Amino acid sequence: SNDSNSNNNGNDSHNKKPARRSQHWFGGNSKDGFIHRSWMRNQGLGSEAFDGRPIIGICNSGSDLVPCNAHFRGLVDKVREGILQAGGVPLEFPAMALGESNLRPTAMLFRNLAAMEVEESIRANPMDGVVLMVGCDKTTPALLMGAASVNLPTLVLSGGAMLNGRYRGQAIGSGTHVWKFSEAVRAGQMSEAQFRSAEACMSRSAGHCMTMGTASTMACMVEALGIAMPDNAALPAVDARRHELARQVGRRIVALVQENRRPSDILTREAFENAIRVNAAIGGSTNAVIHLLALAGRLGVPLNLDDWDRLGRDVPTLVDLLPAGRFLMEEFCYAGGLPVVMRRLAEAGLLHREAPSVAGGAIGPHIEAAECFDDEVIRPLERPVVAQGGIAVLRGNLAPDGAVIKVSAASPALMQHTGRAVVFETIEDYKARIDDPALDIDASSIMVLKNCGPKGYPGMAEVGNMGLPPKLLAQGVSDMIRLSDARMSGTAYGTVVLHVAPEAAAGGPLALVQSGDLITLDVAERRLHLHVDEATLAERCKAWAPPPKPASGWARLYVDHVLQADKGADMDFLVGQRGDHVARESH
Ligand code: FES
Ligand code: MG
Repeated sequence: SNDSNSNNNGNDSHNKKPARRSQHWFGGNSKDGFIHRSWMRNQGLGSEAFDGRPIIGICNSGSDLVPCNAHFRGLVDKVREGILQAGGVPLEFPAMALGESNLRPTAMLFRNLAAMEVEESIRANPMDGVVLMVGCDKTTPALLMGAASVNLPTLVLSGGAMLNGRYRGQAIGSGTHVWKFSEAVRAGQMSEAQFRSAEACMSRSAGHCMTMGTASTMACMVEALGIAMPDNAALPAVDARRHELARQVGRRIVALVQENRRPSDILTREAFENAIRVNAAIGGSTNAVIHLLALAGRLGVPLNLDDWDRLGRDVPTLVDLLPAGRFLMEEFCYAGGLPVVMRRLAEAGLLHREAPSVAGGAIGPHIEAAECFDDEVIRPLERPVVAQGGIAVLRGNLAPDGAVIKVSAASPALMQHTGRAVVFETIEDYKARIDDPALDIDASSIMVLKNCGPKGYPGMAEVGNMGLPPKLLAQGVSDMIRLSDARMSGTAYGTVVLHVAPEAAAGGPLALVQSGDLITLDVAERRLHLHVDEATLAERCKAWAPPPKPASGWARLYVDHVLQADKGADMDFLVGQRGDHVARESH
């Protein structure tokens, strides 16, 4: 039979059990079976590889251009070992290089492209389950979004964080200290030679950013969602125990195929609710909001921006890590890691223990025995870093579809503030004018940045945490309200209002703000208000024209189809599941 998706062309067609998906390639005696097996044999695979045992794809997002994931070329061998131990066949394949530190204009422009590539790679190839090897920020959502749309049994393995940075006897954190050092140079407090030497001290081992930035946050998110193994988030990249974890992952994915447990069985509404609460408890990145909304959209799980506010509102931040707190991922590991956080939330009634886990059964039993070894790093609920640590969702005439602020990284004194807008039309406009001593700005001003959203940049860059004007830094000003349709790095901090929707380039009210307008931020009231009357705004609207679109290529497709931040910034045509079925053979 040439019908690749019938259940009767495998070599176990005599019994009632449907053949494995991969047997539609590797089973049977047709010309096509010959083709699929013969070429694979050139790698030394023997007949046993084609006898119906689970074929496991390993999607490897590591490369020289994704330094945070470059160590995957060693780690992947441990995943292979685990798959072989459990009687499966490991087949590695690459994902697009999504390195946060190198990609221009921003890695986010390519998250959906990589998700699309991964989705098609999984569906089009002979595999029964897939391990996603992820680390650097966008690699986690990109690979998981793609896999979720196919819905084959899936297990996520994060690569682990770098060891703590250390510079002149002081612990320094990825990203966070870049902003600090850069402002110190601008304020004349650090020499350029010192700035250069700090580079090597920051990234001194394999792994991803070791602050609670987006990579560490997303490693926690997949563990909280139950789609990664316990201890996935906290073990350092170079810790020998991560090698054992990789072997476990290899063994577990074979079991998941045998149990036929798929992402739709794991990534339930309860799983997302757990992840949102965990994000508040770890002081996690605002980027998780966008990535989880997009992931939920792939699975058809109802989730919106207001869920983030409602579920996270009363959750205290327990994890005292940079950028919101003091420590780094190494200390988080030594304190007991994410299972401790999840246990503490569960004991406070803030976690669904019955949510499923790829480790087997429900989440509950996997966190029950977690012990805390450092109550400074992972605080008890009675002594949190921030009492209400969730991400606040703001609304008002300036953000009808919402905006977000990470309360734990903001200044309490600015949580209720009315100030005069200082508007930058583009990031180039900001860069051209921010150092000008004549810039009309003071500490009470609100810095407004436009045209940095999904369509505007394009790709919604991490530029929302604009550096302060040097003349105010020199006066000792350390924080001001900044407001934009951009994102910010998970390693950044400050009173930064992000993800304003609709964005300026889509004609949102943000496009109409002018320097001198008064804006009120009231976090307690969840309010973001522009004090300009509607008639004036309507007048300004007439004079507004959208920025030009990219002429062609991926950027054009992206701008034409990307959804706004409050919908996860996925492509409109990628929302939902498309399954693993392929109707036609290739020859
Ligand atoms: Fe890759 Fe931060 S740059 S995780
Ligand atoms: Mg980043």
